[in-house]
Amino acid sequence: MLDIQQIKQRFGIIGNSPLLNREIEKTILIAPTDLTVLIIGESGVGKEVFPQIIHQNSSRKHGSYIAVNCGAIPEGTIDSELFGHEKGSFTGALAERKGYFEVADKGTIFLDEVGELPLATQARLLRVLEYGEFIKVGSSKVQKTNVRIVAATNVDLLKAIRNGKFREDLYYRLNTVPVNIPPLRDRKDDILLLFRKFSSDFAEKYQMPPIHLTEEAKAVLVKYRWPGNIRELKNITERMSIIEQERAISADVLKAYLVTPEFDQLPALMNSDSDQRTFNNEREILYQILFDMRKDINDLKKLVPELGKLNSQVPTDLNHPVYQHPVSQDIPKKIIVDEPVPYADEYTEEEEKEHEPDIFPTATMSLNEVEKEMIRKALERHKGKRRNAALDLKISERTLYRKIKEYGLE
Ligand SMILES: Nc1ncnc2c1ncn2[C@@H]1O[C@H](COP(=O)(O)OP(=O)(O)OP(=O)(O)O)[C@@H](O)[C@H]1O
Ligand SMILES: [Mg+2]
Repeated sequence: MLDIQQIKQRFGIIGNSPLLNREIEKTILIAPTDLTVLIIGESGVGKEVFPQIIHQNSSRKHGSYIAVNCGAIPEGTIDSELFGHEKGSFTGALAERKGYFEVADKGTIFLDEVGELPLATQARLLRVLEYGEFIKVGSSKVQKTNVRIVAATNVDLLKAIRNGKFREDLYYRLNTVPVNIPPLRDRKDDILLLFRKFSSDFAEKYQMPPIHLTEEAKAVLVKYRWPGNIRELKNITERMSIIEQERAISADVLKAYLVTPEFDQLPALMNSDSDQRTFNNEREILYQILFDMRKDINDLKKLVPELGKLNSQVPTDLNHPVYQHPVSQDIPKKIIVDEPVPYADEYTEEEEKEHEPDIFPTATMSLNEVEKEMIRKALERHKGKRRNAALDLKISERTLYRKIKEYGLE
């Protein structure tokens, strides 16, 4: 059996916090058993590697490993994807199809975002967990399968149970062994380690010297709440690695990339508390908007030396209330930023394009329009690949599908 350091090395896990180590040790111990495991943790904490550790360190390692993102499969096809269907069982079912539970027989299935499963699918899953059996869509024949299930969630399933969205019996069956991945703010000693790793990775990727932090910036990095956890730290390090010419990152430069703490308390205003998943997604989109706006303003400050002259039009001070409390004050229906700022004419058309921010909210853009524009741009960037666009926007694919429909972006 591999020890914890070997596991970290093999699976690229950086960090040494006792909270994380304890969960990795637990994972190593339970891996060779057939126990069902539920990986719990906020978005971006690094859950995805755990089911792989489990599979690779079990007797099933030569069997299949199938990872299913339950949030990404449309409700209408999820049962057929998971359990298969008979020919002619619904319009378009031209041939019989095997589902993942049949294909992964003697292997492991990772059900990511398990809280997103529709209730009817939850009932089918419970049957697999309790009796090791399932029925294909449109069939009456009971089939056996020997699959180990590892599930993950970044939503509070107990709350989902209270809201009638998740079956309590399924929760207890899945939660045989919980593995709790701590948020980054609870493993502060790991923050600088991770930053150094990411900055050296991106330096290599972009063929530039690695960025590093001043002492003051280090203190800011460690103190920050990291609502998007390691994914956010990685993204920010990548952005800074690409954008910042001065490779020693000061506290002020760093702060322009971080989401303000006040903003963290916004989401309740955006959505009813009953839909935690949407609530997280809306919040993430809003973070991203604020994030991009602040970065754009920061970039513009550098790009346009005479921006000072425009101060009467655009609040360039990043502490200006427009950037600090965009929604907490009275939830403005529109983001109030003046007309787009012209670029200095010393840039060629090509350079201008390169520096052009993705979207620049104008006085007439509502939050919805900004969101629509972000989604449109993300789809464009990823040539219509929804999975990648969703990853980029840090929302689930299902939310992206919904938004595409809502905004008529198909
Ligand atoms: N300990 C770690 N060391 C190095 N990289 C890490 C670590 N934890 C997470 N990462 C990186 O952070 C990113 C986010 O991790 P991951 O995709 O596993 O998050 P998650 O917990 O599944 O989030 P979500 O609930 O949003 O799906 C990935 O790029 C992953 O490689
Ligand atoms: Mg994940």
